[in-house]
Amino acid sequence: MAGHYRVAVSGAQVGQPEVKLGIIPGAGGTQRLPRLAGVAKAVEMCATGNPIKGKEALQFGIVDRLIEGDLLVGAVAFAREIANQPAPKTRERLDKLGTPVQNAPIFAAAREAAQIKQRGLMAPLAAIDAVEAATRLPFHEGCEVERKLFTACLFSDQSKALIHIFFGEREVAKIPDVPKETPTLPVKTAAVVGAGTMGGGIAMVLANAGIPVLLKDADQAALDRGLATIQKNYATSVKRGRLTQQFVDERLKLIMPTLGYDGFATVDMVVEAVFEGMALKQQVFKELDRFCKLGAILASNTSTLNIDEIASATSRPEAVIGTHFFSPANIMRLLEIVRGQATSKEVIATCMQLSKKLGKVGVLVGNCRGFVANRMFHPYIREAMFLVEEGASVEAVDKALYDFGMAMGPLATGDLAGIDVGWRIRREYQHLEKPGIRQPLAADRLYEMGRYGQKTGAGWYRYDENRRAISDAGIAELISRWATEAGIPQRYISPEEIVERCAYALVNAGARILEEGYALRAVDIDIIYINGFGFPAYRGGPMWHADTVGLKKVHDRICEFNRQHGELWEPAPLLTKLAKEGKTFADFSLEHMAVA
Ligand code: NAI
Repeated sequence: MAGHYRVAVSGAQVGQPEVKLGIIPGAGGTQRLPRLAGVAKAVEMCATGNPIKGKEALQFGIVDRLIEGDLLVGAVAFAREIANQPAPKTRERLDKLGTPVQNAPIFAAAREAAQIKQRGLMAPLAAIDAVEAATRLPFHEGCEVERKLFTACLFSDQSKALIHIFFGEREVAKIPDVPKETPTLPVKTAAVVGAGTMGGGIAMVLANAGIPVLLKDADQAALDRGLATIQKNYATSVKRGRLTQQFVDERLKLIMPTLGYDGFATVDMVVEAVFEGMALKQQVFKELDRFCKLGAILASNTSTLNIDEIASATSRPEAVIGTHFFSPANIMRLLEIVRGQATSKEVIATCMQLSKKLGKVGVLVGNCRGFVANRMFHPYIREAMFLVEEGASVEAVDKALYDFGMAMGPLATGDLAGIDVGWRIRREYQHLEKPGIRQPLAADRLYEMGRYGQKTGAGWYRYDENRRAISDAGIAELISRWATEAGIPQRYISPEEIVERCAYALVNAGARILEEGYALRAVDIDIIYINGFGFPAYRGGPMWHADTVGLKKVHDRICEFNRQHGELWEPAPLLTKLAKEGKTFADFSLEHMAVA
């Protein structure tokens, strides 16, 4: 931008992406862009970090010519054309900087948008301040303001966390015993079994990547329902401008509904998404074993069941893997890839590669109950429920975690996922819990009252016809009565304690997972939590957050919770060890990967 003129190939994109790493454009970027492109465009580009296409860059004066054909030939021709004209210095230009009266609403709107769409992030606001400085101060003074803001962002915890996540997304693709050169299998065609919430979404994801997909359900009514939901979801995407009608029409043609196994003999991959239950899953896999060609990948979308047990129903456990999508599957970026004992390296490498093609971030995890994502989510949401039973209001718990940066409070999440779902999971695994260990009380009562959450119009909250949450004073009173009857003392709980209890429950569970080797690195857990559960990226994920707070401090607090609340808060041995050694989860992961 400091050059006299700029040319670009017509396919070029230009942008100021720094805010995505928690910093702002430096080296005068925030001072020169408004001089070239005008204040409104510059503020938008610097605050959002989103690039623009060459044509728009030309229109806004960021480039002076788009070159079709050979760049060098075109650039030289342009240089000859302007050779005898004055060479303008960007820094001296004032014509597009506007007046304070013109600019005030632009900055106000940009700040408001940043506070909503980039909630909690400091870099976008700093970028807006820097552009504002360009409009108010001489160039050199504006650069000085930019430098100060840049430095403050660069040394912030936020930029360290965002940079950690940026590299982490690349890091998770590295699997020590499945090197880059591992051969992969072609996935040109696929099938999905089960056309429910997840199966329908997964079929859309495959079709969106151009992969023709058979969609099988057990009966016509379920299949029709599934297809209607897919059509509705696509229609919403068109309405919101995310997809074009033409794209949707093409994709819909790729989804072929079926009730039988015709066509399964030729598909390269099947994703099973039938009801959660071992007997049913084994039955389906037995059938897949019979109908699918050798070499086909047989994947399960199970969220909790043992992949090895599912694989044992087939004659080819090496072809069986977990591909755990998150709801809604066509939106959420995370794909947890679950490795069974026998899963072949080719199958793992193929699924990791496929995740990219599907626009997902694939993270490989081991086969433990709930895998990584749900194994950690369980203690997190349980702690939120305990807090409510100890006297914190539903709203206070959700607000504390929302303010911490979570996309949604845990109890609102519970209402969305279904209180009945949580109840069923607790029942199914009850036999594995130690007798006498504290269990959520109010959630079970809500279930008994038929308050399943959003789907029944009431759960922790009440819901209006637009599914907007409304506080329910009646429920607050009931919870306090149930808790008092159960001998749980009622007290005020600060937002800080709410956040610590819930976030450290994640950290403690994550430490066990790491120690047991079900996640390869701490950053894998961070990527899972940011992409699957809306953990704030600017805190770097739960494990990075703990490293940032300091493991000694986190450990001390967990020991205190252990004294107050008992066994559920026993610190993970790895956490105790690292805290004593003054190390971090990141240190542990580095050492661990070096050995691997
Ligand atoms: P769902 O109840 O919406 O859909 C299940 C579908 O499977 C139904 O349409 C049913 O008719 C069909 N089905 C049942 N038996 C079948 C058979 N033998 N052959 C063909 N189709 C059959 O269930 P949902 O929520 O889609 O869950 C499916 C799987 O995905 C489960 O394993 C669940 O644990 C997992 N999962 C669910 C998530 C969620 O948020 N709902 C998130 C991630 C995983």
